[in-house]
Parts: sequence; C-alpha cells; structure tokens
Amino acid sequence: MTKRISLTQYLIEQQRGEAQIPAQLRLLIEVVARACKRIAINVNKGALGDVLGTAGSENVQGEVQKKLDVIANEVLIEANEWGGHLAGMASEEMDDMHAVPHRYPQGEYLLLFDPLDGSSNIDVNVSIGTIFSVLKHQDGAEVTNESFLQPGTAQVAAGYCVYGPQTTLVLTVGRGVVMFTLDREQGSWVMTEDNVRIPEDTKEFAINMSNMRHWAPPVKRYIDECLAGKEGPRGKDFNMRWIASMVADVHRILTRGGIFMYPWDKREPNKPGKLRLMYEANPMGFLVEQAGGAATNGLQRIMELQPTQLHERVAVVLGSKNEVERVTAYHREAQ
Ligand code: AHG
Ligand code: MN
Ligand code: MN
Repeated sequence: MTKRISLTQYLIEQQRGEAQIPAQLRLLIEVVARACKRIAINVNKGALGDVLGTAGSENVQGEVQKKLDVIANEVLIEANEWGGHLAGMASEEMDDMHAVPHRYPQGEYLLLFDPLDGSSNIDVNVSIGTIFSVLKHQDGAEVTNESFLQPGTAQVAAGYCVYGPQTTLVLTVGRGVVMFTLDREQGSWVMTEDNVRIPEDTKEFAINMSNMRHWAPPVKRYIDECLAGKEGPRGKDFNMRWIASMVADVHRILTRGGIFMYPWDKREPNKPGKLRLMYEANPMGFLVEQAGGAATNGLQRIMELQPTQLHERVAVVLGSKNEVERVTAYHREAQ
C-alpha cells in the first residue's frame, strides 16, 4: 500500500523542518482547512439544503451576496476566532476587518479571505472555491484595517480550496506548492501533489472575451495574436477556457499551465480591475510564483504593490511565465 501523507503530517514536518513554520501558523492552516471541509459539506447539499440563491443583502463592493457567500464567511470566522492563532480577519464579505474578541487570546497572524469565489457559478453547479492569505501582525499592536495593508511579499502562507468534482486544497508556506485531496470517507486531506510546477509556455488562455471591446490595446494585441493561431505571429493554435471562478481557472493553470487575465477595461475606467488585491490576486500570485509562474498587473509584479485599502482592486495577469512576460512587455511598450 502506498503511504498516504495527511495535511497534519505535512504541517508537522514543516514545523520540525529546517526553516520551521511556527506552531501557530500550523494551527491556523489546519483550522482553515477544517473550515473548508464544512464549506464543502454545505456546497454539496445544493438544492437539498437551504444554500442556493441570494441572501437578500449586498457586500461593501455593492455585489449581491449569495447565501453561500454568507455561510462560508460565517464558517471561516467561527472556526478561526477562538484558537489563539489570529489577531484579526478580513473578508470580501465584511466592510471592515474583524478583530478577535477580547475573551480569546490574541495570536500573531492576520487572515484574509474570499470565502466563496465564483459566486455566479454556485447555482449552476460549476466549481467554486475559497481563497486565503496569511500575514504576520505587528507584535502587541492594536488591529485595524491598516494592519492588513501589507504587500503580497509579506504573506507567510496562502492557498485555496476548490469545490469541484473533487475537493482540493492547494497551499504554499513559501516552500513550493502542495495539493491535498479531501478523502470523504476518512474526512481527511491527503497529499496528492508535492511539488506543483507551471509549465513556462502554454497554448491556453483564460479571459472573459465578452469584454473585448472594452480592453486596452496591449490586451487586445495579445489575444488577437493568440486567436490568429498557426498562421499568425505566434505560429501556433491556442485554446480558450473561461470558468468565471478564479479558483477553478487558477487550479487548471497550476495543473497544466495557461494564462489567466482579468485586465483593466473601459467599462469602469476608474477601477484598476475587477479582482481584489488582498484576498484574490495576492494569494494567487504567491501560489503561482511558488510554482514557477508569474503574476503582474500588466506592468508590475502584483506581490510588490503597496495596498492602500482593504478592498482594493487590481488588474491581473498570471500563469505560465513566458506568456505573462509577453503580456507585460506589450503593456510596457504601449506606455
Ligand atoms: P467573487 O465571486 O468572489 O465575487 O469573484 C468572482 C470573480 C472571479 O472569480 C472570476 O474570475 C470573475 O469574478 C468572473 O468575472 P465575470 O463575471 O466577468 O466572468
Ligand atoms: Mn472572488
Ligand atoms: Mn467571493
């Protein structure tokens, strides 16, 4: 029988290893993983549980909240409040950060999450996910929204869970990317990939093509060249995939390569992009870089951007290194 490595074993080995991860960080990741199991159970109930449809409320970004957005947010907060590993949490679904109540010990970390990514896919039974990012909190300082405004390079861990045909947890603690698949009979996370690598080249792109007429010229140029296929300047045919759940699109890229873009566009020229820096772009950027890929906003490395707001938006180009570099070069040339 092949030996199975559980998430717990992996984390304990990381804790004992040379560049050890602290016990609080290990606990934090285990708690997030446990919360993801609970979210997965809710997701799987679908129409048999009271989990589909809208919640009848809006979040701070003016988006209608789905019932599962609210459920997933509550599950993550409840699971993480009392363990003593966190100073505070911030979420797509909460206007301001949520400090750990005084009745519990305050920990060293800050947790940011997109509790349910790909909300438009919930009701149609297409893959969705949870994204999280972990930062260090300054010792003893009071926790405020500003405490979270650290660049992506300060992340000590990041990951996501994809609720798809399989439930998979993808994680980095800054030493490569590992994947765990949920064994439903045992209720445990089993390691199924120990060194995820994104191929440097690809023939697959992911972008919402319906926005084409609103794109900036460098994005249009890149996609036009892909669409021109063998006869065009790239000399090869490209394939397109767009799931509209960032988690599922990034999961495909970590599995077989590709490029994912959610660029700035003219629909709302004052918004840098649709996706959020702190709990979507930064954690995904960290994972993609740890797997040998790249992540930029078209001009700069995403992880080096200094955030100014909790819910800040950003343009995203990530995935196979050579393609991301090409798109970034097109943006620089156009400046
Ligand atoms: P969320 O459900 O957390 O608001 O995020 C949805 C995001 C992302 O997952 C996806 O890539 C993108 O929005 C989909 O946008 P379109 O509606 O333009 O396809
Ligand atoms: Mn999202
Ligand atoms: Mn969301």
